[in-house]
This record gives sequence, structure tokens and C-alpha cells, in this order.
Amino acid sequence: MKVKGEVYLPGDKSISHRAVILSSISTGTTEIEDFLFCEDCLSTINAFQEMGIKIELSEKKKKVVVYGKGLKGLSKPNKPLYLGNSGTSMRLLSGLLSGQSFSARLEGDASLSKRPMARITVPLRLMGAQIKGRKKEEEEYPPLVISRRKGNKPLQGIEYRIPVASAQVKSALLLAGLYARGKTEITEIAKTRDHTERMLKLFKANLSVKGLKCLIYPSILSSPKRIKIPGDISSAAFFLVAALLLPNSSLVIKNVGLNPTRTGIIDALKKMGAEIRVKKREEKGEGEPMGEIKVETSRLKGIEIKGKIIPRLIDEIPILMVAACFAKGETRIKDIGELRIKEVDRIHSLCYNLKKMGAEIEEKEEEVIITGTKRLKGAALDSFKDHRTAMALTIAGLKAEGKTVIKDKECIKVSFPDFEERLKRIIE
Ligand code: S3P
Repeated sequence: MKVKGEVYLPGDKSISHRAVILSSISTGTTEIEDFLFCEDCLSTINAFQEMGIKIELSEKKKKVVVYGKGLKGLSKPNKPLYLGNSGTSMRLLSGLLSGQSFSARLEGDASLSKRPMARITVPLRLMGAQIKGRKKEEEEYPPLVISRRKGNKPLQGIEYRIPVASAQVKSALLLAGLYARGKTEITEIAKTRDHTERMLKLFKANLSVKGLKCLIYPSILSSPKRIKIPGDISSAAFFLVAALLLPNSSLVIKNVGLNPTRTGIIDALKKMGAEIRVKKREEKGEGEPMGEIKVETSRLKGIEIKGKIIPRLIDEIPILMVAACFAKGETRIKDIGELRIKEVDRIHSLCYNLKKMGAEIEEKEEEVIITGTKRLKGAALDSFKDHRTAMALTIAGLKAEGKTVIKDKECIKVSFPDFEERLKRIIE
């Protein structure tokens, strides 16, 4: 079995969310091309429809048209906003809704209801937001209730250093900053994906970025009319690793996002010895770099991955762990405590399943140590209802000897509904 051919991948999930959010609160109509029609992004669309924004969807054309109503154009939703599995929707909308003059309640599914929210509620309260989560010990969890502030007092800009590396927290605060008096200055501890900053600039927000610092002032957003979403590098990662591991493979991935805050997976795989060539396309004012990735079967070796690169490949660690299982020697992936609080504890979900396939893995609190082997054996696996766990295990299953069955695979539609179909198309 090998991987051959050329693929165009569906749009980037993080950028699709942001495109809907900023289009909704800008003046003008925005056509979003190559939008990702997945459950998470549809949760964001649904929330804005509930708040009175007209949004037209054409799944066939992969296009969404948003009729923006400006910064103050949202209206009070008639029911709680249900955001399914989507942490990005919950956290970004919390920031945005903190600045509105109406109350709202944000809810999620069983997994989202277990995800920590104090990381956003604490700084948003410092800005004057009336936001409350379900308290348990020192943490807060969904549902979140955001209430109208007394006398409709505006939020106040703050200076804040985010104690965890999180683009969702940064983005929530930038969105709240659009509605705050004075300047909002946010400092990160490590550079995380900067799609919100790039898109805010595209919408002409008053924002400046210097290294780890972002400064935003209240701004009126004006629609760029058209946004083209690049292919999702997080989805590309599964195909990349499949091509690296299956003998005699060669694959070209077209039109994929190459934002440097997201390309950690390419850097890590190259360091492991992967034959990957990247061709960046000239930027044409889309705000996001994109291009082509060519990959061939490669002999991989174990490496150490830690520190600043981690936020640049945080969602790709599951598939990187699969690659490490077939690399010569030891791979250590450190500083990955954040992985324990994703849609599921991904350190556990991967270690549990890969061990069942015969992998040699040591699981620590914030680190995994994987000793590569030449073979894994097929097994009955559990996705724990997490999309990235399910997709990473699908690739491990392709390379393993014997049959692999993965429980609850439908969760893949959270981020990549036609993953299996597309995978089948490139397998010979
Ligand atoms: C995302 C940020 C990351 C990432 C998630 C999407 C975003 O989460 O893991 O899949 O779109 O901002 P954190 O902000 O929790 O690191």
C-alpha cells in the first residue's frame, strides 16, 4: 500500500472560525471561499445566526456569505448558544460577547463542558466583564453566562500577560479589546497561531504586533469583501505522515496554509529526516501565506522536541507520536501539558492506543518518550470521541500489520468530515 497523487485539503479550521466572527461584526458583505464545513465551524455560524446575522451557506461551492452588521449589530440570542465540541467557538465568543450590551449563555457537549475556562474568565473580568462559569475547585467550566454590565458600562482595556500559550485566550482578549475603552495590551509567553491578528489587520482594525506583544484599540471593522481560506495544515499532517511511512509514496498537497506559527510539524518532521519540500506562493493580500508541500517516503530518526516549537505544532502531536513509533531510536516530546486539556487528554488517548498496537511509549505528566520500532500490530482501538486521536490512529492502522478497528470514528466530522474518503482517493 502506498500514497500517491495530489490533494487539495479543506479549509483551515482556525481561520474559518475567525472569518465568520470578524465578518459578522464588520460593515459590509464578506464572501468566504474554501470555508471548512465541519461541525466546529458550523457551531460558530449557528451562534451568529442566533444573534441575528444573515449567513448564506453553499457547501457544494465551499462558500459562505456573511452580511455583517458592524461592531454593535449583534442581537440577544433567544436561547443558549450551543457550541458542541468547539473550544475555539466558546473561548473566542466569550471575549466578543463580554463587550455586548446583552446577556448570553454558552453551552457545549460533554467534552467541552470539561474544558477549563478560568484562563479566559479571569482576564475578561479584569476588563469589567460579567462572566461566570461553573466553579469546581480553582477552575471554571462551561456553561458560561455572560451578563449585561450594570449601566452598560464599557469594558476597560488592560495590560495582561497570558500565563499559558493559547491562541484562543489571546483571541478572546483581542475581540474584547475591540469593545474596550483605551488600549488592550496582551503579552504571550510563547508565540501562538496569529490568525486573529492577521485577520484583524485585513479588516482594518487598529492593532499592532511586536514579537510577543499585541496592542489593540477600539476599532470599526471594514470587510475585505472576499476571504480565501487556505487548506488546513493540521489536516495535511495526517496525509504527510501517511506518505512518509508507507513505502514508495509520493504526495503533493496543494494550497495549504503555511503560516509560520503553524508549520512546526514540517520543521519537526524534517529534523527527523523527512523528505519534505515546501514551495511558498507569492502572497496576494490574503493575509495568510499558502503554498504547496511535496513529500516522499522517508527513513525517520528519533529527536527531542520541546519549548517554543510546541505551540507551533500543538494539534499535530498525536500524528507526530505515530511517526515517532516508526523512527529509529528515541523521540522525546516535552512541554506538552496542554495536550491533557484538549477535546480529550491526548497524551493518554495516544499512549493507551499505541501501546495496544505494541508501541514502546513512556507516558509522563507533560512528556512522552517513544522508542521506535519497525512494526505495530493492528488492534481494537478507542478514539475517546476525539477527532485528532481518531485520524492519527487511522494512519497508524494503515501502517500496522493486521486489522485495526477504531471505536467512535464519527467524531472525525468535528474537523474533517471527508477525511476517510480523501484518504482512500490517494491510496494505491
Ligand atoms: C486554536 C488554538 C489552539 C488549538 C486549537 C485551535 C485556535 O488551542 O489547539 O485546536 O483556533 O485558536 P489553545 O488556544 O487552547 O492552545
